Amino acid sequence: MGCLLLAILLTGMLTGCSGRRTAEDHSVGEETVSGRPVIGLVFDSFVIERWERDRDVFVSMGKELGAEVLVGNANGEAEEQKKIISHMIDRKVDVLVVVAVDGSALTDEVERAHRAGIKVISYDRIINNANTDLYITFDNEAVGRYMAETINEALPDGDTYMKVNGSPEDYNVTLVNRGFDASIRSDLQMIDSVSCSNWNDEEAFAYLTEHPEDIQNADAFMCGNDAIAGQVVRALAERRKAGKSVVTGQDADLDACQRVVEGTQNMTVYKPIEDLAGKAARCAYEMATGNRPDTEETISDGTYEVPYIVLQPIKVTGKNMDSTVIDKGFHMEEDVYLHVRHDEGTDTDS
Ligand code: GAL
Repeated sequence: MGCLLLAILLTGMLTGCSGRRTAEDHSVGEETVSGRPVIGLVFDSFVIERWERDRDVFVSMGKELGAEVLVGNANGEAEEQKKIISHMIDRKVDVLVVVAVDGSALTDEVERAHRAGIKVISYDRIINNANTDLYITFDNEAVGRYMAETINEALPDGDTYMKVNGSPEDYNVTLVNRGFDASIRSDLQMIDSVSCSNWNDEEAFAYLTEHPEDIQNADAFMCGNDAIAGQVVRALAERRKAGKSVVTGQDADLDACQRVVEGTQNMTVYKPIEDLAGKAARCAYEMATGNRPDTEETISDGTYEVPYIVLQPIKVTGKNMDSTVIDKGFHMEEDVYLHVRHDEGTDTDS
């Protein structure tokens, strides 16, 4: 618990909660000296590239609005996330914003937060059966459709593919697969499917190393995110198949965008993190100051209809890298095209 307190304190201080008081001074039962709303932002982990961007945008917007933002990091552990949430409830934050490690394991924590008068936002990943006060995310079924479209367009009749999914505890994985399965061509045959626990992408490389027949026989790899895609390309490269098999991903990680323009990954998905995190911070601030989230849409969390805000992800290939990832300022052009010659402003044809 000591390291947990230290982590929150350091993060609280880093977010400049207030010149006079650190986040740690916001102790149990005490309103902040500044009277500012306090938002608890609890992440799964920062191992995957995108989440630091989510954090930085959210904290910056929260501060701009006048809130204090306490950031917690569960390091991919569901039990650790429960401890952080409980600690933030004890510190009487006004709103909790949670990227669930396990969306089916936080019902009791949300109920306790509600009993303490704290609103809860499911950020990017739904918290099931918990009646959270808002679920804000990207259209994950669209992500799956984009992956299927890429494979459909690339493979001749009767070819094969395998799935290398992310965490089975992440409900987004279920939604991505729902979109994928509804769109993949029926003549294509799935020859294998594996999940990476806690989004541990090393498991993808280990699995393919132990199953070289998959590298040999799969014409396409539906990868749950770019980190997994990177490990699949690494395994393909060892068998001189990189660039010969179709590989999908999501998150528009920098190394994945490089692979897309270099031809070893066929697509990724750009998710406007600035829009998601910025809107989530504004919703959290409004809810912390007694207002409702500005949406009329709802979605079932398995038991309850919860308020719902869904943003659109964008499929990225070599054809639209410049007009999306680069023009939106998500990555620098010289970073994406680090290893290949590129005429500025023109997309590659891969
Ligand atoms: C998922 C999210 C993806 C990706 C993944 C981890 O929940 O939908 O965008 O971030 O976590 O890479």
